Amino acid sequence: MGVTIHDVARAAGVSVASASRALSGRRKVTPEIAERVARAAAELGYQPNAVAKALRDQTTGTIGMVVPGIGNPFFTTIVEAVERELQNSGTDLLLCASQYSPQVEARRLETLLARRVDGLIISPCDIEASVPAVLDAARRVPLVQLDRYIEGGGADWVGVDDEAGLALAVDHVIAGGARSVVFAGSRLVSSSARLRLSGFERAAARAGVEVLPPLLGEFTLEWGIEAGRGLLDAGRLPDAVVCANDEIAVGLVRSLRFGGARVPEDVAVVGFDDVGHATMCDPPLSTVRQPVEEMAAEAVRLLGQLKAGDPRPAQRIAIAPRLVVRQTSRPVAAGVEG
Ligand code: RIB
Repeated sequence: MGVTIHDVARAAGVSVASASRALSGRRKVTPEIAERVARAAAELGYQPNAVAKALRDQTTGTIGMVVPGIGNPFFTTIVEAVERELQNSGTDLLLCASQYSPQVEARRLETLLARRVDGLIISPCDIEASVPAVLDAARRVPLVQLDRYIEGGGADWVGVDDEAGLALAVDHVIAGGARSVVFAGSRLVSSSARLRLSGFERAAARAGVEVLPPLLGEFTLEWGIEAGRGLLDAGRLPDAVVCANDEIAVGLVRSLRFGGARVPEDVAVVGFDDVGHATMCDPPLSTVRQPVEEMAAEAVRLLGQLKAGDPRPAQRIAIAPRLVVRQTSRPVAAGVEG
């Protein structure tokens, strides 16, 4: 007979019940016990008895998902991608929105846990304030962070390589002749907001171009419109605006053009996401496409690993985005862009 959970418990110096809780991930155990049990299981080569586990663990066949806001086309796009992935395994999705509030987010997680979801996929709304609720949920059921993440690790994450994406956008506008650039993004409460600003700043510094103070508000059309008006009122337009998402970019293009500026002749604009409104922008928006389908597939794959009880360190997977050149940025001579 192979290594049993009794062997693991003995090697870890804990009860069989604690070892079972630690390996199933269903119930809370202290990080110290979780670490001892995971180490003992790995050293002994413990393989959970899949049949016994399935019989013991009543599953509901549902996964809970929490996103900041379903009014944003990126989140509806990625929710649909996750749902398609889960359908492949006959699993249903229960969706909640945190309304960009860590307090609401914590309540939604409890609601989903009370409904005995088999696992959770979450885009945490606040890199700091979301930490307690996300880590608590991750100790109780398999949990994967998708798109955004909390600081300090502690749970799997898969998302776009934000900094690489902003480097693509900055390098593109500079190849198109821009020598003064500005970033239009969101207040720095989420991982995507912070990483995109830092990615922009690093790329602009490498290029040695003039960088105007960042315009930070929300990931919304309204903020893009307001940021565009602010640039016009300042009386001097930068050569290019790099935006943290398409909603901001579309709003910005609209207010710049309404104020008499030509896009891209007077000012180039690049977005990020390539979902929803990007395709309705006039002129069509140059942007950075997030690999949404791949991100969703990876999140579901990681969740499956966690549900199988694989004791392993938290995974972090950043997937490369792709530049999509349309008409809000200046054309670049063939071969000029890397
Ligand atoms: O549009 C909302 C933005 O925040 C997206 O770019 C997505 O990455 C989310 O984090």
